[in-house]
Order: sequence, then structure tokens, then C-alpha cells
Amino acid sequence: MISKNEFKERRNKVLNFLADLSKEEKVNYKAVLKSGSQKTFANDVKYPFRVDSDFYYLTGFAEPDSVLVLDPHASNPYQLYVQAHDPLHAIWEGHREGLEGAKKNFDCDAAYDVDDFNEEKEPNTNKKSSSTKDVLDFVHSLRTIKSNAEIALMKKSAQISIQAHRVAQEICTTGIYEYELEAVLCQVFRSQGASGWAYPPIVASGANTCILHYTENNQIIKAGDLVLIDAGSEYQYYASDITRVFAADGKMTSEQKDVYDVVLQSQLAAIESVKAGGSFAQTHDLTTAIIAEGLKNLGYIKDKNNPEEIKKYYMHGTGHSLGMDVHDCGVDKKTSVYIPGMVTTIEPGIYIRDKNIGIRIEDDVLVTKDGYEVLTQELAK
Ligand code: GLY
Ligand code: MN
Ligand code: MN
Repeated sequence: MISKNEFKERRNKVLNFLADLSKEEKVNYKAVLKSGSQKTFANDVKYPFRVDSDFYYLTGFAEPDSVLVLDPHASNPYQLYVQAHDPLHAIWEGHREGLEGAKKNFDCDAAYDVDDFNEEKEPNTNKKSSSTKDVLDFVHSLRTIKSNAEIALMKKSAQISIQAHRVAQEICTTGIYEYELEAVLCQVFRSQGASGWAYPPIVASGANTCILHYTENNQIIKAGDLVLIDAGSEYQYYASDITRVFAADGKMTSEQKDVYDVVLQSQLAAIESVKAGGSFAQTHDLTTAIIAEGLKNLGYIKDKNNPEEIKKYYMHGTGHSLGMDVHDCGVDKKTSVYIPGMVTTIEPGIYIRDKNIGIRIEDDVLVTKDGYEVLTQELAK
């Protein structure tokens, strides 16, 4: 759980950032962030609401149609605009914090009805809002480095995902549909207290293992197929992201095994390369070199130094920042270096389309002071 104090510290950092920027540029800046709205699924049925990550990161407040204003120049620097209490809403939809709850439970200096929020006419109109690039970049730089409390939530999310993968692997057999494994993954996520998935699970068999973002999950798993499961839960707004590949009937062909071993070697080397001062780009160069060498040795490519040839089989990055969003903010894969507190996925893959061999192995790795910690280590590969 993230404490009230931690949310407050985050807001104070943003308020100080705005105060400094205002001084520097002689403009009174403030930040305005929105929680987002509930999208429609069908006619008047709504999707479950997932709050905007930046908004939640600074407030801990998860209701739709709310606005956060952080204004270092106002007498009430932390303002929340929220949906007012409505007895009819309480009957149909349930509890809302309302203005009183926003003040009492979320510590804001002032709470207003969101119906009164008007970007142009809101109080303090002499102040420029800075909710766009500058302030978001700053919030993202904070979100990139995880606190101990955030790491604890990410570990919990990882544990739930590990359990889900284990159960799916156990019940997998030929003749069942991919969606039966998807159902089991989601069952474990929810039964362990996750809100659900952090991204729609990929349960791909046979040719589908070569479709990077396959989510139909509607084919029958056949003997001789590989099964690729890329699935992770979201627990208290924090994601995990794991991929494993196994043989549907428990036995890989020697060709499947050879390719698997190359991916595994590249993944293990990439994990070893995660340490403060190293870079995302170096790790990617490493997986590319090992995969290129393996593809050459196995006869799939002629020239291990030809990026075009390699790209036919390994066409994605090695990993991405992970946190509140599965593809989290604050990291540029070309330029960013590892800093303790960052969490990255390590997920090299090889996809041989004409052989229905798609293999990706993905773990979640925390950068520590001394090196790294694999949050998803306990799931065999
Ligand atoms: N599951 C999405 C990804 O691995 O990036
Ligand atoms: Mn990933
Ligand atoms: Mn993934």
C-alpha cells in the first residue's frame, strides 16, 4: 500500500518543481491533471474504470471525472475537483467520496464540485497551467524510480502472475482452446486480489506464437504446438509482465529446443547486464548479438552482422520500463541508463513464421544498488 505521506511527498516534489520553473521563467505555473472518464462498452454499459496513472500517482484518488490542480502560488496549493455526493448515484452505482471525502480522506487543501471546473474560468486565471510536457516529464521521471512501497506492490503483482502461469501450464493439454488457459489466468488474477490483467493476456499456440500482440486466443491447441503465454496481473495499480513458452504435449522437437536455447541464453545474458550505469541500448545490443549468432549457427540467416536479416526473426526491443503502466513512462530505450529503483522487462524473442516457432521469454527485473533482482525469478523457464 502507498501511504498518504508518500502521495504527499510526490505532490510536494511537483509543487517545488512548478515553483522553481515559475521563478526561472517568470510565469506562474500550475499543474492540471485529469483522472479520465469511464468509456462505454455497449449502449449504456460502461467498462470498469481505470484511473489515469499520473493522476493516481499524485492523489491516490481513483474516481472518474476528477481534476487535480497543483498550484504553488495559491493559498490552497492542492485542489481536487470531484463528483459531488449524489443520493441517486449512491443507490445505482455506489459510494463516491464527494467533496467531504476528498478533503478528509485524500488530504486536499480545497475540494470543489467538478461541475464547477472550467479550465478557462477556474479560480486563479492569471496563472498558466503546465500540465503538458514539462510537468508530465517531471512526474514521469519520478515514476521511473520505484519506492520500497511500490516495489512491494510490484512483487505482489509478480507473485500473482507466477501462480497464474503455473496453473495455466499445469492444465494445458492438447485439444483444449487457448481461451481456456486465458480463463484460468484471469481466475487466478482475480482470486488473488489483483484487479485483473495489466494487459489482455496473450495465449498463443502454433502459428499464433509468431503474432506479437495476438489476443484472439480462440484456437485449439494441437500436438506439436508450442504455447506462448504472455500474461501479467495488475495489483493495486502496479503491473507485472511475464512470458513463458512450452510444448503443448510436453515435448519440444529438437528444432524448437534449439531456438528456445538461443532465446534463453540471450535472456540470461541480458539479465546479467542489468546494473546501475549500464544502459537499455547495451542490453539490446547484447541480445541482438547472441540471437544473431544463434540464428547463424542454426542456419536461419547467412550474415550475423546484417540487421535486416536479424530483424526478420527478432523484430522488437529487449524490454521496457514497467510500473503503473505495463509499458511504463520515463525511459528512452535509446538513451536511458539503468538507475537503482527502475524496473525493466527483459524479453528477447525469435519468431520463425514458416515453422510456427515463436519463442519469447520475459521476466521483470529491478535495478538495485549492487546489480539487479528478478521479480519473476521463481517461475521456471
Ligand atoms: N505484454 C506486453 C509486452 O510484453 O510488452
Ligand atoms: Mn513486456
Ligand atoms: Mn509481455
